[in-house]
Amino acid sequence: MKIHGNPHRTIETDAAENVRILDQTLLPHDVVWRTMTTWQDASKAISIMQVRGAPLIGVTAAFGVALAMRDDASDTSLDTVCKSLFATRPTAVNLRWGLDRMKAALGSLPSRERAAAAWSEAVQIADEDVRTNESIGRNGHELFQRIFEQKAASSGPLNVMTHCNAGWLAAVDWGMSLSPVYQAHDAGMPVHVWVSETRPRNQGAALTAFELNQHGVPHTLISDNAAGHLMQRGLVDLCITGADRVTASGDVANKIGTYLKALAAKANNVPFYVAVPVSTIDWTISDGVRDIPIEQRSSREVTHIPGRNSVGAQEEVLICPENTPARNDAFDVTPAALVSALITEHAVVDCSAEGLLVLKPA
Ligand code: MRU
Repeated sequence: MKIHGNPHRTIETDAAENVRILDQTLLPHDVVWRTMTTWQDASKAISIMQVRGAPLIGVTAAFGVALAMRDDASDTSLDTVCKSLFATRPTAVNLRWGLDRMKAALGSLPSRERAAAAWSEAVQIADEDVRTNESIGRNGHELFQRIFEQKAASSGPLNVMTHCNAGWLAAVDWGMSLSPVYQAHDAGMPVHVWVSETRPRNQGAALTAFELNQHGVPHTLISDNAAGHLMQRGLVDLCITGADRVTASGDVANKIGTYLKALAAKANNVPFYVAVPVSTIDWTISDGVRDIPIEQRSSREVTHIPGRNSVGAQEEVLICPENTPARNDAFDVTPAALVSALITEHAVVDCSAEGLLVLKPA
């Protein structure tokens, strides 16, 4: 996708095998790239959310392992680094998936071959992510097309509501929930996106609005609390989100607030889709509320808001009385019954244990 008209990925490599990331903590106001030279850089980038979004943290962790193998390619190093990277964020299953891929590729190799193999595996994981998300977009676009055709010709653009950021900033390129939006827009369909701000970290306001703006997709920022109201007024044709983990029975963990949107969508007969790569499905668990670990983040994200002040500097302000206790669950679980369908790179499937079975690797 593009930033100021130039094509970019969220994580980029060059011929000299350098790797750099776009620092998402400074978006939308500043576009800053940071070179990672050690696995600790990758670990920090994931922990402090310079990179975030389920697929992207998996890819960043893979590059972290590749950087570690340059310094020490022993079994102990591989094991320690994978364990440390795995501990950075608990909810998105793609982190485990990326690290498992690296361990499988490297485990049986002699240590002298590991650095080169690790780099090539990490590059492959990143390239695959791009192709996967393009396919998610193609499948989602077909679905959008059908819904758009059912709309009265006079009733304006396809109005899509999304939550958090599952666009290209959450992946290497294209994104998951926004990939169909980009493909529909590029194919000439009039499409408009309701962008939920997504408190407390405001990934919708900061990141989704940034990337839609860069691509020229019409969009409107709304407060999280406006979602049900807009659905009730017939102003939303469909909701689409990404996910950090989907259980084998179709329960979906995604950014806090997703569950409320899904409830409002059900009550108002608005279809609610979840777009994910198959690597986001955790086949080892079934009950999302019981089994998906929910990341607890700092209460400061609830009590303070960052932004740009009138002289252009980024700063944080307190929005409640000092020392107000706050709780910050970063994700929630939407039961499968509230999801109209799962859009994946292979197919659009019913979001149920039976529906998901066609996606299960042999
Ligand atoms: O905490 P984040 O920003 O890493 O969370 C990301 C999300 O929850 C996104 O909404 C997304 O759907 C998952 S990434 C595809």
